[in-house]
Amino acid sequence: MKTYRICLLPGDGIGPEITAEAVKVLAVIGERFGANFEFSEALLGGIAIDETGTALPEATLRAAHGADAVLLAAIGGPKWDTTDPDKPRPEQGLLGIRKALDLYANLRPVRIFAALRDASSLKPEYLEGVDMLIVRELTGGLYFGARGREAGVEGAATGGGPGLRAYDTMEYREFEIERIARTAFEAARTRRGRVHSVDKANVLESSRLWREVVHRVHDADYADVELIDQLVDNSAMQIVRNPAQFDVMVTENMFGDILSDEASMLTGSLGMLASASLGDGTALYEPSHGSAPDIAGQGVANPLAMLLSMDLMLRHSFGMHEAADALTSAIEGVLADGWRTRDIADAGTLPQRTVGTSAMGELIIERLG
Ligand code: IPM
Ligand code: MG
Repeated sequence: MKTYRICLLPGDGIGPEITAEAVKVLAVIGERFGANFEFSEALLGGIAIDETGTALPEATLRAAHGADAVLLAAIGGPKWDTTDPDKPRPEQGLLGIRKALDLYANLRPVRIFAALRDASSLKPEYLEGVDMLIVRELTGGLYFGARGREAGVEGAATGGGPGLRAYDTMEYREFEIERIARTAFEAARTRRGRVHSVDKANVLESSRLWREVVHRVHDADYADVELIDQLVDNSAMQIVRNPAQFDVMVTENMFGDILSDEASMLTGSLGMLASASLGDGTALYEPSHGSAPDIAGQGVANPLAMLLSMDLMLRHSFGMHEAADALTSAIEGVLADGWRTRDIADAGTLPQRTVGTSAMGELIIERLG
C-alpha cells in the first residue's frame, strides 16, 4: 500500500474545525482506495505567532518540505490585526510558505454544483455553462515587490509639511510570467482550449511586459490555444455579466486574489472555492476562503472548500483520480439531497437539512462508504 505524508496546517479561526473533517474523510478514502495517509501537524499564522513569536516557524518549513503535500486550512483573525510594520502578522506565514516552496501557480477552479444554482448571487440563467479555472500567479507582483515607509517626506502631510509616505511595488520578471503562462496554456489544453490573460496593460508597465511574454509563449508553443487579452476592470465586469465566456483565466497575484473572491460568488459561497498552489516540488492545498473568525468555534463552518482542495491534492500530488472522482460525487450527492451548511442555505433549504461542520463531514463519509 502506498503511503503519502501530509503536512497539516490547521491555522486559525475555523481552520482546526475544517481540518478535522478533512482528516476524517481522508481516513475513509485511504481505506476504500488502498492508500495510507500519514499526518504531521505544524503551526502557521496567528497560532504560530502566539506560540513561537513568528508566523512561519522553521519547524513548519521543515515539516512542509518533508511532506508529499501540504494541506492548509486558514490563517488570520482580529487578534493579530495591526498596521504596525514591525509587528508579526499571520499573513506573513502564508506568503512566506508560498515563497519558500516556490508555489508560483495557484489554481482556483470555479465550478457550479447543479444543486447550488439558487445559492449564487447571480440569476441561474447566467450560470449556464460556467466552468472556469483561475490561474493566479502567487509568488510575484505587488505582494512581493519592494515596499516600505518613509518619514519626514516633504509635502506628504496634509497642508504640505513633512509627513509619511508608503509604497508597494508591482514587479515581474520575464521568467515569472513565462512559467505561469505555460501553466495556464497547459491547463487550457486539458479543458476547452481558451485562455483569457488579464492585465492592466493600458496603464502598468509590469502589465505590458506580462502581455508581451504571454504572447511570446503562446505564439512559440501554444498557438493551438485561443488567447484573449482582457483588462482587469473589464474582467471584473465580465465575471458577473457573462461568466460562461471563461475557460482559463491567468493573471498576476493581486488581480487574481480579487477576481477569485468575486468569481467564488458564482458558486454560491466563498466556502465552496478550493485551491491548489503548485511549484516544482511539494504542493500546497488550501481553501480560498479565510479563517472566518466571526463563526470560529461554533461548528457551523462549511468544510466543502477544504474537501474540494483535498480533491485537488488527490489528483495533482497523488495521482488518485478515482478517489478524487468519488469525493466529488459524494459532495455532489450530499448537496443534491438538500444538505447545506448555513452559508449555502437558501429560502428553499429545509431547516432540518441545514447542518454544521462535522455533520456535513459525516454525510460525505456516508456517501463515500
Ligand atoms: C487568499 C487570501 C490571502 C491572499 C491572504 C489571507 C493573505 O486572501 O489566499 O486569497 O491575499 O493571498
Ligand atoms: Mg484572497
